[in-house]
Amino acid sequence: MVALSGASFAYEEGPAVLTGLDFTVREGRALALLGRNGSGKTTLMRLLSGGLRPSAGRLTVGGQPVTYDRRGLTRLRTTVQLVVQDPDDQLFAASVAQDVSFGPLNLGLPDAEVRSRVDEALAALDITALADRPTHLLSYGQRKRTAIAGAVAMRPRVLILDEPTAGLDPDGQERLLDTLGRLRAGGTTVVMATHDVDLALRWSDEAALLTPQGVHTGPSAPTLARADLLARAGLRLPWGIAAAELLRAQGLLPDPDAAPRTPEALAALASAHGSRKPTDPGKPTGSGKPTGARKPTGPREPADPGEPADPREPVDPRERPPHP
Ligand SMILES: Nc1ncnc2c1ncn2[C@@H]1O[C@H](COP(=O)(O)OP(=O)(O)OP(=O)(O)O)[C@@H](O)[C@H]1O
Ligand SMILES: [Mg+2]
Repeated sequence: MVALSGASFAYEEGPAVLTGLDFTVREGRALALLGRNGSGKTTLMRLLSGGLRPSAGRLTVGGQPVTYDRRGLTRLRTTVQLVVQDPDDQLFAASVAQDVSFGPLNLGLPDAEVRSRVDEALAALDITALADRPTHLLSYGQRKRTAIAGAVAMRPRVLILDEPTAGLDPDGQERLLDTLGRLRAGGTTVVMATHDVDLALRWSDEAALLTPQGVHTGPSAPTLARADLLARAGLRLPWGIAAAELLRAQGLLPDPDAAPRTPEALAALASAHGSRKPTDPGKPTGSGKPTGARKPTGPREPADPGEPADPREPVDPRERPPHP
């Protein structure tokens, strides 16, 4: 869908941030982008959305190279929209509705079309009641939702969000994930940069980890169980995976592949094991695995032809650093 190939980038007078990067956002995916501070997540997102131009390599959309002239960039922006991390860098109009209408107006769309897009975007972000409020009087979470609505009003096929849950309260995070779920159900591909490995595991079906050795992309559950990769990206194991490993080490969870994404999924695995007793807890049963128990509530996990089917390495959980 959107792809960088052999892309390099350095800011003026700065060292290279990304070198020879190959990175593909595939249609319909929920992709989580993770990496330590300064690893280049924001830079990569700005390259994908055309705000920065790679010094080497190229950006393609649907296989077509992007041209960085006015026409090419307008075409790119109707396909790919970036929501920056700080809403104050994005909002500038006097009211919420005016801000959200800015992109569609700029495309030269008829008034009725602009109005319907704005109404739809405000409703999608649950901020219809804020339409006439001055943006500078909104709370941080409300400003964040307004910034996302501005991108949604462009009806992009790919929505890229730079740390969209940072600064939101737990309810605000859940509401945002629900909104993103609805956008995905409507066919939007969503890319999110986050430092939250638990959220990444729960929400995404692909995870991309930026490490000093390059980017590693794969299906979320096995990728986010790779302690070696996570350490290189300055991250810890997701809670569910760490808990499953500790339980497995004690013989309380025989399924060697279990990677629960939610507390409910972990409870389902534990109770499935409990109901199979008595069994030898030291002996994984394999075939006795209850159907669907591996990821009962997680999203669909795509097979990535570029990756091994399951890049998880057989690791003794006792050799892993303890989960903090
Ligand atoms: N406008 C800029 N000018 C010069 N250097 C920059 C600029 N923006 C970022 N950098 C540098 O580029 C590198 C990558 O920064 P980037 O913002 O992409 O990282 P990040 O992964 O998004 O980090 P964070 O998790 O802190 O948001 C960093 O070393 C940063 O200092
Ligand atoms: Mg950043």
